[in-house]
Amino acid sequence: MRGSRIAGMGHFVPENIVTNDHLAALMETSDEWIAKRTGIRERRWVVGDVGATDLAVPAVEQALAEAGMTAADLDMIIFATLSPDVNFPGSSCLLQARLAVPGIATLDIRNQCTGFVYGLSVADQFIRTGAMKTVLVVGAEVHSSGLDISTRGRDVAVLFGDGAGAAVLTATEGDNRLIDSALHADGTDYEILMLEAPASRLNPRFTPEMFEQGRHYPQMVGQAVFKHAVKRLPEVIDEVLSRNGATIDDVALMVPHQANLRINEMVARMIGIDSSKVYNNIQRYGNTTAASIPIALHEAVQEGRVKSGDLVLLAAFGAGLTWGANLIRW
Ligand code: UT7
Repeated sequence: MRGSRIAGMGHFVPENIVTNDHLAALMETSDEWIAKRTGIRERRWVVGDVGATDLAVPAVEQALAEAGMTAADLDMIIFATLSPDVNFPGSSCLLQARLAVPGIATLDIRNQCTGFVYGLSVADQFIRTGAMKTVLVVGAEVHSSGLDISTRGRDVAVLFGDGAGAAVLTATEGDNRLIDSALHADGTDYEILMLEAPASRLNPRFTPEMFEQGRHYPQMVGQAVFKHAVKRLPEVIDEVLSRNGATIDDVALMVPHQANLRINEMVARMIGIDSSKVYNNIQRYGNTTAASIPIALHEAVQEGRVKSGDLVLLAAFGAGLTWGANLIRW
């Protein structure tokens, strides 16, 4: 039966390292507070005018090289980001232009931290049906230019980092494939994590008063998001494992979304997976939302943490609220 496998991956982060001490010079915070509550020690922030697509390009070039392909082999580009280069068109169009492959299908995914998990599933569906053979899935974000780096915004600003990750999915008849994906959303509490303005529901969409109020910065009710994460991640992990006749003991490596080390440690305890089988790199990159899973997965592969035939579990949650998981036979 036709399915899809990851033929190559790439990732890219900007050179500029911003430590917790750097942030403590900009706002009332401390290395101790950030490290204790989140596990984050440093993150990468772009310098100057750099968009999500600029970070995506080197990640994609690496993924194509690893797959032994060129952009000409792609049938479709899926781009997951909450920080598109411009409000419209989607960054998938900008990336397509940069890769010089006009004519192929492009799609932007607006599912925040769950964007890459959704993207893998969408690519897999197109490949399974035979509509596409090879699909590029990208998660890329530039948060730093959109954060309130004063004490007013400290609860959010210390969490996020910039970066990009990419995977090339291609058709296979073999067992090494994306086995299944579970995707969910519940918009009831969308306001607990959102960036409101400019907003089409407001007329005008943006005013100097809104700028003063900081309504163009992300707002989060951190503890509520935390509670959702530790409920939904175990649920969706159980769902994708049990409906494929697998248990957590069968999983060789879990790569969870990197939002908070405490969340990932708590979820690992709840589902009963040894911490040696959970890959975390939030300490170095902060939360890069849609880019966090592809960056972490590719680093794990490069470090030799994944070998052919291993069962790999990806799981994410985020704004929306959205959550989901992919189960992969590597
Ligand atoms: O990708 C999806 C996205 N987001 C998440 O997954 C986030 C989930 N939530 C979390 O990770 C945690 O809720 C946070 C790390 C955001 C916050 O940790 P917390 O333990 O829930 O802290 P809190 O929000 O209850 O704040 C505790 C205190 C407050 O002061 P008071 O009211 O106790 O005096 C905050 O004002 O810490 C204060 N605070 C800070 N202090 C120093 C908030 N941000 C900071 C900061 N530095 N950066």
